[in-house]
Amino acid sequence: MISATCVAPVNIALIKYWGKRHEDLILPVNDSISMTLSTDELCAKTTVTASESFETNRMWLNGEEVPFEGSPRLQRCLKEVHRLAVANGSQKVPPSWKIHIASVNNFPTAAGLASSAAGYACLVYSLSRLYDIPLNEELTTVARQGSGSACRSLYGGFVQWHRGALDDGSDSVAKQIAPSSHWPNMHVLILVVNDERKKTASTKGMQQAVKTSQLIKHRVDKVVPERITQLREAIANHDFQTFAEITMKDSNQFHAIALDTFPPCVYMNDVSHRIVSFIHDYNEIMGGYHAAYTFDAGPNACLYVLEENVPHLLDAIQKVFPSDSFDSDTYLRGLSVPKVDKSHKIDPAQRNKIDSLDIIAKNAFRYIIHTKVGEGPRELSADNSLLINGLPL
Ligand code: DP6
Repeated sequence: MISATCVAPVNIALIKYWGKRHEDLILPVNDSISMTLSTDELCAKTTVTASESFETNRMWLNGEEVPFEGSPRLQRCLKEVHRLAVANGSQKVPPSWKIHIASVNNFPTAAGLASSAAGYACLVYSLSRLYDIPLNEELTTVARQGSGSACRSLYGGFVQWHRGALDDGSDSVAKQIAPSSHWPNMHVLILVVNDERKKTASTKGMQQAVKTSQLIKHRVDKVVPERITQLREAIANHDFQTFAEITMKDSNQFHAIALDTFPPCVYMNDVSHRIVSFIHDYNEIMGGYHAAYTFDAGPNACLYVLEENVPHLLDAIQKVFPSDSFDSDTYLRGLSVPKVDKSHKIDPAQRNKIDSLDIIAKNAFRYIIHTKVGEGPRELSADNSLLINGLPL
């Protein structure tokens, strides 16, 4: 019996992946860029165990057994790992041995975060440790076949998923643009919005968009290529102004395409739209971009903000979206809020303007997660295993 246990991060796209040119291989219509979030606040954790004595492949997700054979994406990932093991001459695990997988997320599903990205990245990374396969671009093509956005979670920092041009997808890979140490004060606030609506799943939504949206063609041919170049440059230069503008515009365009899909996909809700207008008002008061929003296929906002600007932004959020639980331990989760340092004191005119902002909505968020840019997946020691003798704890 042989095991590996690993953690892998969530990533949030700055330039969105939306639309496939091949469904099974998960080949995207455009490049995307994301930032990897620290695993200290949000991560998937997976144990994979292989044994001669296991009769079938089995998997447990957050403690519940899920049908392994029923998932073509899972099976494709395992098949690809076997192929890479042979290609790399790795004989650590005999190919006939079956595997057991247990995976958990350390964040509630209710957070509506891209759990599939962290989950598949963690699965593929754990398998790569088990089968002794190196982490390289080729491994990102395996994670990509689990869930497109998962390929970006194999690296820390800022990551680009190149759409590639080949039919077999071998050049549709993720590459790191810059490590997390390049911009360590890049922080994120995730505003988890109350919302119970049933939404169209990403896979289905993007399929319909490619089929029915005319705007998506313009995005793919013209807008994304320009934005990729500009955003890469903004990251290289620590240029938060350009970074913020591209991020917000790209989120807006993604949701415009969702609405241009027929029938339309509506992912943001009323509170999401109010967050957008608040961020624009806030940035205007501050005289430049101090925060940038982005929304995935759901109503929660992800706000990018430099560490030194976190305290003022949180004050303003509590002013316009007051929460009765603000002082409770469970409302503001994750990193503690840094102290305002002297060089980032807000001037009295700005303070007045923020103080005179109207309340937009009360108790609009379940909670707020404060996190930052982080590293890629890593292996944990055996005492962190989620499986004992191949079965969940
Ligand atoms: C809006 O990677 O979940 O988060 O490839 O079908 O599994 P599949 O989709 P998925 O889509 C993520 C879409 C997004 C944007 C992004 O992460 O780039």
